Amino acid sequence: MRYKKFLDLNLSELGVGTYLGNPDEQTDKNYYETIKLALEKGVNVVDTAINYRNMRSERVIGNVLSEVGREKAVISTKGGYLALPPDVSDATAWFRETLVKTGIVNPNDITETGNVLTKNYINWAFHKSLENLKTDYIDVYYLHNPEDQLLKFSRDEFYKKLEDVFSLLEEFVKQGKLKYYGLATWNGFRVPPDNRQYLNLKEIKDIAEKVAGKDNHFKFIQLPYNIAMTEAYTLKNQNIDGENLSTLETAEKLGIYTYISAPLLQSRLIRPVAPEILQMFGVNKPSHIPIQFVRSTPGVGTVLIGTSKKHHLLENLEIENVPPLSREQIEALLRKGA
Ligand SMILES: NC(=O)c1ccc[n+]([C@@H]2O[C@H](COP(=O)([O-])OP(=O)(O)OC[C@H]3O[C@@H](n4cnc5c(N)ncnc54)[C@H](OP(=O)(O)O)[C@@H]3O)[C@@H](O)[C@H]2O)c1
Repeated sequence: MRYKKFLDLNLSELGVGTYLGNPDEQTDKNYYETIKLALEKGVNVVDTAINYRNMRSERVIGNVLSEVGREKAVISTKGGYLALPPDVSDATAWFRETLVKTGIVNPNDITETGNVLTKNYINWAFHKSLENLKTDYIDVYYLHNPEDQLLKFSRDEFYKKLEDVFSLLEEFVKQGKLKYYGLATWNGFRVPPDNRQYLNLKEIKDIAEKVAGKDNHFKFIQLPYNIAMTEAYTLKNQNIDGENLSTLETAEKLGIYTYISAPLLQSRLIRPVAPEILQMFGVNKPSHIPIQFVRSTPGVGTVLIGTSKKHHLLENLEIENVPPLSREQIEALLRKGA
């Protein structure tokens, strides 16, 4: 396994994602076994979110950590979407009693997609994640698709919300409950500046600096990147000191580490291909093509591959026997339309 040194962390270049799958016991069992095996094989990055499979993905990770030891993994989770515990039968009543009557969520703060970006809700979700993960600290806490907020609130309101929540997250860092935080996005960093959901990384880093100075802990972003969605590398939608840059370049310049989501486009990029295509990527299995493309792209930190099956994990890890492609090879593939 190749590792990337970043601040006090040594992050594996491949990580396990836990988004997909049914909220049931069989999927729990599959994830449990796969995550345990991944940690044995040298993967240490495990990514989740409170709402994935109704908190079940977090709880499975908590069970693995209890068995293997917390220090074996770099855990990232996310808060923002309303999340329901697995054992709730009446979701509306649970939501009213637990979140609304207690003042944790004001219904006016919820977007159409069920996203909430307030101190009260993130405080609740963060502590629930600690409980689910059976840990007293989180390595990386992501605000989940915060660009959804821009569909309901003005940019000024959104920036104020980020400022409030960043100050809460900096408090958690002081309390030893959190190491770093950031944004996990879907559209925000992949769209042009005139798009309503566009996120400007420098402006957002400036908010963290306003809250906590140069030593702020806004150090991570997450966004999709794959052969069919190349914007993180190809779209120069960011700007620092008058220079147009891609999101990956900007993150590097600002000292921010990048996790990549959906590298297989949720498995849709795995298809039978001709031997010369395999050769172009320097691999011998179709599933390795999208992984090779993403892990070789300059600026990419860790590639999160959603994997609930042990045989998928083992197949994906074989890529570690192959050297990554060079920048020139990636550029040539992009020119060809990958
Ligand atoms: N906005 C966000 O913050 C956001 C959005 C999307 C994803 N994410 C994160 O990024 C992670 C990765 O993205 P993703 O899970 O959506 O998509 P993905 O990694 O592109 O694809 C995952 C799918 O590929 C399958 N797979 C894995 N290895 C395979 C192989 N060798 N052969 C065939 N199929 C294979 C998995 O199946 P099995 O489960 O059966 O192994 C799963 O169905 C997520 O799990 C999540 O942690 C974040």
